[in-house]
Formats: sequence, structure tokens, C-alpha cells
Amino acid sequence: MSPNTLDDKVVIVTGAAGGLGRAFALGFGQAGAKVVVADIDSVGAQETVAILTNHDIPAIAVTVNVTDPTSTQAMANAALVEFGRIDVLVNNAAIYATLKRTAFTEIDPNEWDRVMAVNVKGAWLCSAAVYPKMTEGGRVINIASATVFSGSPLWMHYVASKGAVIAMTRVMAREMGAKNVTVNVIAPGFTLTEASLALMDDAASYGVDRGALKRASQPEDIVGTALFLAGDGAGYMTGQTLVVDGGKQFI
Ligand SMILES: NC(=O)c1ccc[n+]([C@@H]2O[C@H](COP(=O)([O-])OP(=O)(O)OC[C@H]3O[C@@H](n4cnc5c(N)ncnc54)[C@H](O)[C@@H]3O)[C@@H](O)[C@H]2O)c1
Repeated sequence: MSPNTLDDKVVIVTGAAGGLGRAFALGFGQAGAKVVVADIDSVGAQETVAILTNHDIPAIAVTVNVTDPTSTQAMANAALVEFGRIDVLVNNAAIYATLKRTAFTEIDPNEWDRVMAVNVKGAWLCSAAVYPKMTEGGRVINIASATVFSGSPLWMHYVASKGAVIAMTRVMAREMGAKNVTVNVIAPGFTLTEASLALMDDAASYGVDRGALKRASQPEDIVGTALFLAGDGAGYMTGQTLVVDGGKQFI
């Protein structure tokens, strides 16, 4: 059996209404998984499900607000009711490209709280809702950002939130190890999604010259790492952060 074959596994992807989350949903589905497409954007989630259904991938859309524990519990329950098990959780939902780049002295405290609520508390609440219901040997994959290592300026709340995701992952890895569940982070570099393309005019070439690999990152470049983390070959890796940025920086 190929290490990336996820036949009959059930995967929840948060923030899967578009962008990277949609790419994860499709990638996992094409590897054999049944997919729960979870997002606060119900319309986008339904669109993702339609794409998966066109590929004969079993999928449901679940409307979730990751900042609300009742909602994250309902998401986990919906997965169990529909598919009977949960094997993989991808914590991908975040506030990202809608954030204006702002000097740290000028960040609106309300916006700071909103970023932390979705990006940090959201990943915690989804993990807390899913873990007790997860199959032994399950996998949690948290999506952070390579900006944690570059210290990307003018985005301190976002960078801090993703740093917290990396820190939380280490704690969760130790606690979830009791059930043989692994928890790892993917820290993508700038990747071309609808959201990131809208950030700047030259998004398609942004940062390419700084990478060892002289091309822009596509969502599919990140999906392969998630499939690896969910597959049999990564069963002894936990608490780790994999930077996937085409070699823009080495940590
Ligand atoms: N695209 C990049 O360059 C890049 C780089 C590094 C990391 N990332 C990370 O990858 C992930 C996906 O990024 P993307 O480019 O696809 O952005 P995106 O904005 O398209 O995806 C984020 C998704 O999260 C959902 N979401 C927001 N708040 C939510 C909430 N309260 N409850 C449930 N869902 C909610 C949004 O509806 C959206 O579908 C994010 O975690 C982002 O921080 C992206």
C-alpha cells in the first residue's frame, strides 16, 4: 500500500471554502479520503463539495465558526454522523489576506483579538472537539506560516498567531500522543491562492527570486506535505514544523 493512500479515512478540513483549504480537500479526496468541508463561508464550502462530488469524492459541507465551541463540537458530530469516524483534522481556517499590513504600533486591538480568536483559539477549539472522537493513530495538521521565521514586518498579529499555532502544536503533540495521534505543522511560504493574489499587484512573482526554487508556490505544493503527514510513513513524526517555501529560508 502506498504511504499516501488514505482509502476510507475521514478528513476534516477547516477553511475549505476556497484557497489552500479547497486544495487540501481535493488532494485528500483524490488520495481516497472522505472529506468534511468546514468553513464559516457556507456558499464556498458547498462549491468545494460540488468540485469534490464531480471527482466522485464523498464529501459534506459543514458551516462552522471555529471560534465557537458549540459550533466546533457540532462540526465533529456532523463528521461522525455522516461518515462514522474521524482520522485527520487539518486546522487551516484563518484570518489572513484580509488583514491590512499595519505597523505594530497601529494595529487595532479589536483586530488583534479577532486574529487570535480565529487563528489560535480556533485551532485549539477544533482540535479539542475532534480529538476525543478521533480514531487511534489519527493525525492533526496545523497550518501556520513561514512568516513566523522571517518575522514578516507590518503583520505582527498574524505572525504572532501563527507562532502560537506552532507552540500549541508541541503541547498537543505530547497530550495527543497518549492516543497515538500525531500533531504537526506545515508552515507555507507565500502561496498563490485567490486570497494572496488579491494582496498585491505583483503577487504572482512575489519573493520568487529569494527562493532556492525559482518559481511561485501553488496550493498543490503544500498539499503533498499534508498527504505525507497524514500517511503511514509519517506515523512516528510529531510536534514538528515543516517549512514549505521553495527554500526561501532554512530554519
Ligand atoms: N496563501 C498563502 O500565501 C499562505 C501562506 C502561509 C500560510 N497560509 C495559511 O494557509 C491557510 C489558508 O490560506 P488561504 O490563502 O487559502 O486563505 P483563505 O482566506 O482563502 O482561507 C481561509 C479560510 O478560513 C475561513 N475562515 C475564516 N474565519 C473562519 C471562522 N471563524 N470559522 C471558520 N472558517 C473561517 C475563510 O472563510 C476562508 O475560507 C491559512 O491558515 C493561512 O494563514 C497561507
